[in-house]
Parts: sequence; structure tokens; C-alpha cells
Amino acid sequence: MACGGAKAVGKQHDLGKQTARERIEMLLDPGTFTEVDRFVQHRCAAFGMADKDIPADGVVTGYGRVGGRTVFVYAQDFTAQGGSLGEMHAAKICKIMDMALRAGCPVVGLCDSGGARIQEAVDALSGYGRIFYRNARASGRIPQISVIMGPCAGGAVYSPALTDFVIMVEKESQMFITGPSVIAATTGEEITAEELGGAETHTTVSGVAHLAAGSEQEALESVRRLLSYLPSKAGELPPTLPWRKQDETRVQLDTVIPDQSAYPYDVHDVIDAILDPGSCMELQPWYADNIVVCFGRIGGRSVGVIANQPFSMGGSLDINASDKAARFIQLCDAFGIPLVNLVDVPGFLPGSDQEHAGIIRHGAKLLYVYSVAEVPKLTVVLRKAYGGSYLAMCSKDLGADFVFAWPTAEIAVMGAAGAASVVFRKEIAAAEDPAAERKAKIEQYSGQFATPYMAASRGFVDLVIKPSETRARLLDALELLECKERRGQLRGNMPL
Ligand code: HXC
Repeated sequence: MACGGAKAVGKQHDLGKQTARERIEMLLDPGTFTEVDRFVQHRCAAFGMADKDIPADGVVTGYGRVGGRTVFVYAQDFTAQGGSLGEMHAAKICKIMDMALRAGCPVVGLCDSGGARIQEAVDALSGYGRIFYRNARASGRIPQISVIMGPCAGGAVYSPALTDFVIMVEKESQMFITGPSVIAATTGEEITAEELGGAETHTTVSGVAHLAAGSEQEALESVRRLLSYLPSKAGELPPTLPWRKQDETRVQLDTVIPDQSAYPYDVHDVIDAILDPGSCMELQPWYADNIVVCFGRIGGRSVGVIANQPFSMGGSLDINASDKAARFIQLCDAFGIPLVNLVDVPGFLPGSDQEHAGIIRHGAKLLYVYSVAEVPKLTVVLRKAYGGSYLAMCSKDLGADFVFAWPTAEIAVMGAAGAASVVFRKEIAAAEDPAAERKAKIEQYSGQFATPYMAASRGFVDLVIKPSETRARLLDALELLECKERRGQLRGNMPL
């Protein structure tokens, strides 16, 4: 048996978990896996390890195909010494990463490990260091995906964190730097492993994981789907799906924006209407949901959508939304995926919490990544685009190739109510009926500034379009920019 024995495999199955090889079979196109380094053995002699046989040294490595394209893979085998990572286990992972980088293909890591192999001491730590080094060097050059399918503790968590996507399996995987027992001993805090670092925690509170899956099968299907939007390496175009122009139907968007500017709506309705049907794959849907980031396709081409969500915090930008969007933009730019920015943003979130936690430095990331991104950048202003947040959502000044605005767009320094109170403060105070005067001034301001036409008159908006034309305009723009020149500067995919 290639795994760690019938007893350990039985225990793994009893927990509802698959073995490393079973997982690889589920991930790859049938019959395409080639295993390398199957006979590698550890060299540890300490603590009675000299005679200990650990099949494949606890990690199965090799390559195969996903959707017909080559992918390199490693899967830690919990049935063999708890999938713990020693010198040779790490060397196998490093070899696969080096092969992937040379071949220009993605790496998928299936993590299920008790962490550093205790008996191998500093050799195990060095193994992690060598993996982190490769994760960082490969960042932005080849896609890297981590699926957490068991424990992932201590410094080991930093390898997944350095990759482009982290997918967790609900109720089966945990990630934390220090576990519950150490926390209890050092701080007195009592917390379960699941509360501390389970899939729910990392997809809602910490933002460490991009997706949570209900089962291993679902997690691996997500990997296959993610890869379908990405090129095998930076500098290649992402795969394009067949699409027929004659199948285009007019999208119904003219009534999506409520009559009242303050009323929310679900920006998913806009996203669904402009993307090819069924092509939307949202990342981090439950984390910082005031901004939506998703992959999708328009006319068969991959795009990355960044959209303010009026349903959550009015769509304002806070620290977490800035970080979430900035990292996604960086990823899309690294892998040549055009950006579609849907703007309805009242501003950066006000408050001392945000200021003291550094909204200035986090918000700056958004300005930076949009400015340096060289992929096609298409911006559609749906409604509010106020102040700094207007600029930060890829305005013309940050290098947007096209800025479209719906007639409902309000591009201004601030909302009409706030602006009128400042600009017309004296007139309102002196009026016989201050409330009526204030209302009149708000209307005057709205009519003049809270429209797309002032911005369009300066060329900051290229076209004012009907909402129902949006998809067709984006399709045209993507075709026009297909050969947009890029300096091809390599940039990794880590938060700044
Ligand atoms: C060596 C290990 C091991 C490890 C598990 N095993 N973890 N061997 N080093 N880190 C072995 C066990 O001894 C056991 O061997 C087999 O794997 C299965 O483990 P069990 O304990 O029986 O499994 P289970 O009851 O499911 O418990 C799983 C577990 C537990 C919660 C993960 O094994 C555990 O607490 N392991 C140690 C976790 C840990 O502290 N790791 C170090 C983290 S610090 P036998 O022979 O009995 O079958 C770290 C630093 C990295 O990783 C720093 C990087 C910079």
C-alpha cells in the first residue's frame, strides 16, 4: 500500500477524508497523473526514526492535466506520519515547484499535515523556509492554489498565505499560527480549533481564505474552475471560451438603480447582466462584502470584476474592502486579466476606528494597484462616485482605458446633502424657512453636479451610456484593447 497503512487509511476515511492519491484523482483529468519521487525516503535517525518507513515521505507529488492543461500538484498524506514535513518531504515539494516554474504551469497544493516533523527539528524548519522562498519567487509568474484539507498549523500557514488562492473545506480544515492549547496556556483564552481557524472564521472574519467548500469534491471542483479563468503562466493569454455574437441578447439594466439615490440595490444583478451567463465566480463572498470581486467572462474572455456593493455599508470603502480589492487587482494584472470596475461608492468609511487602523495606508493600496496595472481597465460609473473613492475606483486619472457612465451617475466631491450644507451654509441659516431653503439648495447642487455631465464635459467620462448598452460597450472595448501594450513588468501577488 502506497499510503501509511490500512489502519491510518481507515481512520482517514472514517473522518470523511480522502487519501492524498484519491484527492489527486478527483482533481485531475482522469488517468493523467504522473507521480515523481515516489521512492524518496527521509534521512532522519533521531528518536527511533532510522527504521521508520514513511511511504513517499508523507507527500505525493507529480503532474497531470486539468481541462487538458498541465498542472503540478503536491498532496500531503496524513496517513503517513501525519503528513508531517521533514527535510525530504519539503525537498519533494520544492522540486515540484521548480518544475512548475520552469514549465510555466500552475501549482496546486493539497495541505493535510501535522506541521513540522518534530523529530527532524531544524531540518523541518529549513524545509518550510525553502517552500516560502519558492512561493514568493513564483508569485505573479505562475498561478498557485492551496486547498486546506486538514490541519495546517504554526508557521506552515504561511505557504498557503503566500499563494494566490486559499480554499478550505468546512468542518475539516483549520489554519492557525498558535493553536487553542497554547493560547489557553499563554493568555487564558478558551477557544475551539474550529472557532479559531476553521473555514467559517477564515472566510468571514480574517479574510485568509478565498472560498469555503462543503466537501473535498467541491473544493477540488473550485480549483478546476479557478484555473479555467487563468493562463498557465504570466505573459500568456487566459483561455477563451467559444462565444457567438448572434447569441447576444439585450440586457435589462435600465431599471436596476432605485429612483431614490440613497436606496440600496444588489450589484450582483448588474454583474450577472453584463457577464456571460453562468460565468461569475465570486471570491471572498462573505468577507468585506461592501466590495464584490469575481472572475467572469465577457464574450468568452476572462475578466476580473471589482464592484462596490450598495447593499453593504452603502458600498463605502473600508480597510478590508481596500485590501481585498487591491490584492485581486494585482492578481488580475499579473495574469493578464482585464479589469471591469463597477462604481457606486459614497466614499471611504468615516470614523476614528478606520483612521486609527490605517485607512490611509490601506486605501492607498487601491490607488497604487489601479495606477500600475497594465491590463485593460474599464470603468462603469453606475451611480455615486464621490471624492477620493471616485478616484480610487479606477477613474480616468488612474489610467482607465474607458470610463462609461450611466445617466444616474453622480460624480462629485461629495453627496448633495453634505455639499449643500457646506457651500450654502450662510444662505440656509439666513433663510426664513431654513429647511425649505436647504431642500432647494440640495436640488440645485444635485442638478448641476450630481450628474455624469460635468465629468463628461472635462473628458473624465468617455461616454454616457444607457445601462442596457453596458455589456455591448464592454465587449467592444475588450476587443479594441485585446492587444493593449504592456511593459510586462513582473509583479508578485502579495499585499503591499
Ligand atoms: C511528527 C507527527 C506530527 C509531527 C502528527 N504526527 N504530527 N509526527 N511530527 N508534527 C504523527 C503522530 O505522531 C501519529 O503517528 C500520526 O502522525 C497521526 O497523528 P495523530 O496525532 O494520531 O492524529 P490526530 O489524533 O488526528 O491528531 C492530529 C494533530 C496531532 C492534531 C495534527 O497529530 C498534533 O497535534 N500534531 C502535532 C502538531 C504540531 O504541534 N505540529 C508542529 C506545529 S509547529 P503514529 O506513529 O502514532 O501513527 C510547526 C512549525 C512550522 O509546524 C514552522 C514553519 C516556519
